[in-house]
Amino acid sequence: MKHSTKINSISHNESSIIIEWTDREKSTFHYLWLRDNCPSDIHPTARERLFNIITVSENIKPKSYKINDEGKLEIIWNEGDHSSYFETNWLRQHCYTLKNKKKYISPYKLWDNSLNNIFKEISFECEEIMSEDECLIRWLEILYQYGISIVKNAPTEKKSGLKLLNRISHIRETFFGTPFEVINIPEPNNTAYTARGLENHTDLPYFEIPPGYQFLHCLVNNAEGGMSSIVDGFKVVEYLEKNEKKTYEILKKIDVNFINNDYTQNTVRSINSPLISLTKNGDYKEIRFNISQTGTINCEPELMEEFYKAYRRFAELIHSKKFTVNFKLNKGDVFSFDNRRVAHGRTEYNPNSGHRHLQGYYMDRDEIIGRLNYLKKIEF
Ligand code: OGA
Ligand code: ZN
Repeated sequence: MKHSTKINSISHNESSIIIEWTDREKSTFHYLWLRDNCPSDIHPTARERLFNIITVSENIKPKSYKINDEGKLEIIWNEGDHSSYFETNWLRQHCYTLKNKKKYISPYKLWDNSLNNIFKEISFECEEIMSEDECLIRWLEILYQYGISIVKNAPTEKKSGLKLLNRISHIRETFFGTPFEVINIPEPNNTAYTARGLENHTDLPYFEIPPGYQFLHCLVNNAEGGMSSIVDGFKVVEYLEKNEKKTYEILKKIDVNFINNDYTQNTVRSINSPLISLTKNGDYKEIRFNISQTGTINCEPELMEEFYKAYRRFAELIHSKKFTVNFKLNKGDVFSFDNRRVAHGRTEYNPNSGHRHLQGYYMDRDEIIGRLNYLKKIEF
């Protein structure tokens, strides 16, 4: 966001320059912070900082400072024979006093089984995303906020999902290949590659950072069964926090071991993580939930009973009607969701009654959010 608030007065103390703005807000800019952020020390094309803070002392100060004829804050430093010039709009935009006063607002919109009523809002036409940036922005916003979307009427040639995904960015490669083929095969290396039902789960919990988003492109789905299910894990966490605090606390605290020992690979993967993780500001970071890919629980013996009670309760909620949305994917649908938030599953299907083939892709959260920042011209 651009600011055009003007400066009312400028002063200093031992450690900082203080700006009072015409709207009566007050900003403090620490001297070393100012020197560290001097615009002349940013590489013009690499857009990276060239200045190293250890090349000045921690007591660096202005020899003099003023608002110059161009309206910039001009500082002549007492070290390093250097002057800095700051746009006042830039200072206002990056003012850490004001940033710290702002209340954190979560980007997430949580949902339960009433999402059925707003399915339209999360549905998009492939053609529109391909041709209009406005539509791409809306798609990314929905993916970020709701963690779920369905793109309709995509082409159904094999691998054609990649063209749609490349409107966002590159995919995240895994040992399952790109795309991974969700189809019933003999000697499967994953239960997804059978006709069995899959209980609600998040994919690849045995990675240090599991893929942020998953895209399932439906090429054909005319077999009996194979209904999809989704649950907003963050909504379940919110419910626990509000109503079952003890369960919530234990699921945040205890590490669970997730394992993979794929018979087609020469790798053994093992990661410990709680089922629920929050960010520093108390927002939801991720859930991991995958009964099939969980190793043995190794918590302290005196916590085992409490853990299993909480784990069962979490599992119950993740499979409950209250939180689950059910639907059937159609040929040409690209169903995508935040894999570190939304648990997904499917019912069993009858492979003798027709065909079912999805092609899957993964993408990191960074790609969704980074592209959205770019398209919305958000500056940091
Ligand atoms: C998967 C998966 C769901 C489906 O491949 O990870 O959960 O509908 N597939 O087949
Ligand atoms: Zn899955």
